[in-house]
Amino acid sequence: VDALRQEILSGRLRAGSRLPASRTLAREHGVARGTVQAAFEQLRVEGYVRARTGSGTYVADELPDKLLRVQGPALASQEARARRTPPRRLSQFSARIERPRSYQLPKLRAFRANQPALSLFPTTLWAQVTGRCVRRATMDHLTEGTSAGWWPLRQAVADYLTESRGVVCEAGQVLIVSGTQEAVGLVSRALLDPGDAVCVEDPGYVGAVRIFEAHGARICPVRVDGDGMVVPSVRMRPPKLAYVTPAHQFPLGITMTACRRIDLLAWARVSGAMVLEDDYDSEYRFAGRPVPALQGLDRRGVVLYAGSFSKVLFPGLRLGYLVVPPDLVDRFSAMKSVVGQHAPLLDQAVLHEFMVEGHFGRHVRRMREIYAARRCALREAVERHLKGLVEVGGIEAGLQTAAWLAEGIDEEGVVAAAAERQVEVVPLSRYARRPLPRAGLQLGFAAVDEEELERGAMELGRALETVRRSGGQAVKAVRAVGPLDRRGEKGDFSPPKQGP
Ligand SMILES: Cc1ncc(COP(=O)(O)O)c(C=O)c1O
Repeated sequence: VDALRQEILSGRLRAGSRLPASRTLAREHGVARGTVQAAFEQLRVEGYVRARTGSGTYVADELPDKLLRVQGPALASQEARARRTPPRRLSQFSARIERPRSYQLPKLRAFRANQPALSLFPTTLWAQVTGRCVRRATMDHLTEGTSAGWWPLRQAVADYLTESRGVVCEAGQVLIVSGTQEAVGLVSRALLDPGDAVCVEDPGYVGAVRIFEAHGARICPVRVDGDGMVVPSVRMRPPKLAYVTPAHQFPLGITMTACRRIDLLAWARVSGAMVLEDDYDSEYRFAGRPVPALQGLDRRGVVLYAGSFSKVLFPGLRLGYLVVPPDLVDRFSAMKSVVGQHAPLLDQAVLHEFMVEGHFGRHVRRMREIYAARRCALREAVERHLKGLVEVGGIEAGLQTAAWLAEGIDEEGVVAAAAERQVEVVPLSRYARRPLPRAGLQLGFAAVDEEELERGAMELGRALETVRRSGGQAVKAVRAVGPLDRRGEKGDFSPPKQGP
């Protein structure tokens, strides 16, 4: 009775339409035909339906006004329903979060940034390891685990970080999280109250800044020079946190020098701030010696260290880690248990097997060679097709680089002109809160092969020439299509020491 009434009131069963035969409904719902007939009778008595002898039961042509008033919302159109929706009393946290713009990534092409070579991921091997883990799964894998993560994986990550990244930690300090995004969220929850100041690199990683903003933090953009993020002034009202990418500054690609690291840690000590180190793609270093993590230099427990498997394996895995000082382990574990429990245990178990069986190390070594070749291909293609149009620095590490545009070439114009030629570039200004001293683009070189990088450079060269020739005209046309998400503020910004 309720279901049919609802169907009629919502308009899904229209006035005058015939209800299904009682025999059919009885069969579909596994009830006696008499039950359905009794329901029809109840609806007839209430005035929703009328019975026509020998021809079935029909929805009444006119529903009683009274019923409509009482049950009104269900009958309403979308608009009326929206009008009747009560005002939502949402949190300030949710109000501070910008609705993500929905867009579909075009087909993979040069110079997709922030993405590894997913087509080269050994999915068959991953499937084998997964199959084995699932077949051997015990009750431990199927019951809920501890919020800090699957203990064997925490151990494997601690070993890996100690050996490869110079991180000083015990397995107990490692929390397995759903990527860096969750790590930054946990750190924000642990440290920030609305109004607290957070120092961020400018330009920097928007994904992290969004979380700080959602927590109501006051964002203090700090410029980046050739040594990495400049150490904030001690006179500044003491911030609670500084977020940095020392191994490979996002998006400029600068490696923070040893002196700067030491100064930053000293500043943190004096100002009472904590430092969140995002070591997002440090596995891929092509020039010079590996640069150990900032966390390894920290003797006072001021550094929180976050890393991710998104770049080194694949982003859909949604697994990463957060290393916290020993005294904060319980607090972070408790917070994690309240807000999200733990990452899926079987996925953690698969990743653990993948690491301890040596596949992880082999995959990283193989990909490092492939990315090194692609990086070379990019540099050569830039030399061939983009000379005088862009300047690309040394590309020491990572999966992408910054390319500075020659004087007079507008970033926004280039993005549109390049897109017309099936080339993808991200303007550096998208990552900047204040105007940059010079226009530039982020060029990814890892996701596509050498041939595509060559095509991309050739087409980008043509796009740059077009924009340069058309001067302001092309830029105006592009602005009419849709401005980019520029959040530049007035402020001082000195150009990086290194590079252009
Ligand atoms: C600076 C930076 N940190 C971290 C990540 C990885 O984030 P997640 O682990 O949430 O995928 C990215 C991905 O693009 C990044 O660019």
